[in-house]
Amino acid sequence: MRFGIIRPVLVIWIAMASLSAVGCGGQTTTEQDAASAALQRATGQDDESSGLSSGDDEERDADDSDGTRSNRRGRGHRARGGGTDGGTPPPECTPTTCAAAGADCGTIPDGCGGTLSCGTCGAGLVCGATAANVCGAPPCVPTTCAAAGKDCGTISDGCGGSLGCGTCPSGQVCGGGGPNLCGGTSCTPTTCAAAGKDCGMMSDGCGGTLSCGTCGAGLVCGPTVANVCGAPLCVPTTCAAAGKDCGTISDGCGGTLSCGTCGAGLDCGASAANVCGAPPCVPKTCTALGADCGSVSDGCGGTLSCGTCGSGQTCGAATPNVCGSPLPAQCLPGAWTTYAKPFFTTYCTSCHSSFSTYANVVGSLSRIQNEISTGRMPPGRTLPQADKDGILTWLGCGAPQ
Ligand code: HEC
Repeated sequence: MRFGIIRPVLVIWIAMASLSAVGCGGQTTTEQDAASAALQRATGQDDESSGLSSGDDEERDADDSDGTRSNRRGRGHRARGGGTDGGTPPPECTPTTCAAAGADCGTIPDGCGGTLSCGTCGAGLVCGATAANVCGAPPCVPTTCAAAGKDCGTISDGCGGSLGCGTCPSGQVCGGGGPNLCGGTSCTPTTCAAAGKDCGMMSDGCGGTLSCGTCGAGLVCGPTVANVCGAPLCVPTTCAAAGKDCGTISDGCGGTLSCGTCGAGLDCGASAANVCGAPPCVPKTCTALGADCGSVSDGCGGTLSCGTCGSGQTCGAATPNVCGSPLPAQCLPGAWTTYAKPFFTTYCTSCHSSFSTYANVVGSLSRIQNEISTGRMPPGRTLPQADKDGILTWLGCGAPQ
């Protein structure tokens, strides 16, 4: 059984010292654990563990469309770095973090229509004990004379106060029937040593009080057993106090704290351990972009140089940033004027004057191709091979005008 409570015990000890109240009692750990468990149930504490969002953007976008989360949620990180990867929507809402909201347990709204899980409290602490979504010591519940089974004298209420339990009827003495119980005719007060106590104020069992002294350096009264000196208990930290808002951290006392999950679009530890942050921009490579020449954006504000093309190839011949064979002149727009019309004028229009217009030539494309490729036209002479190849290329490219 772990004695996880420090605050109630310290409060009790300080109060006892100043009020000269009787006893240095504290709640038993059994009571505290039960109260802690009950409060945790009542506050609906979320045990969801560290949620690292390692999914990629596509997965997050898919989440956006599932209807359970708002698509207004933080896109802030995308504006960072990716200045040139067009199509990125501008940031519309930046979700808060648990640390920023001062929350270290339970679930809070992220301010953008989503929710944040802020983790669980360390040992002995409960969520919302003193303030919403903040870990704290469970409240001390003072006992009563009846609950303690006492009927005379003064006893500790267990929370730093004292209780007067009345006097005994005539013929009985306080302590005659046992400590703080009426009965018999006489009562022998106990002593600090006999009771095994060495600090603070306590009942002598007969309606009086005993002062059992103070503790030595470094010790406090009653950290684990009432009126017994001991080393002060470790005070577990909280996620908020440690400035952490995701994942699991040490509570500084041998336990761990679950600090919750990050809001949409944020990753745990992106820039600092156990802190939600925008994931870093990962620059793309030439290969990933399918680029093999020229300069392209790396998607994070930088520029990639993807090299040069081999001989006979040019960059962007058919596709930007891809090496390819340049299109022949006969296939480019304007080739009718720059290439085909002069060809027909040279070789054909002396006999076919109609071939001086593009419309007429296009109307006879397949026959022209046939006559030239078979060598029947022009009759009586052989076309130079380059001219034959050139006009067949123009025809093969769909006779661009
Ligand atoms: C010296 C005159 C002459 C020249 C130059 C000439 N042609 Fe002809 N072309 C003819 C004659 C004559 C015919 C009809 C021949 C026949 O029908 O047997 C003909 C027929 C054609 C036909 C029709 C064939 C068919 O399918 O019925 C085409 C097409 C044609 N020429 C294309 C050309 C082209 C293209 C050139 C230029 C490269 C050209 N000709 C140069 C005289 C010429």
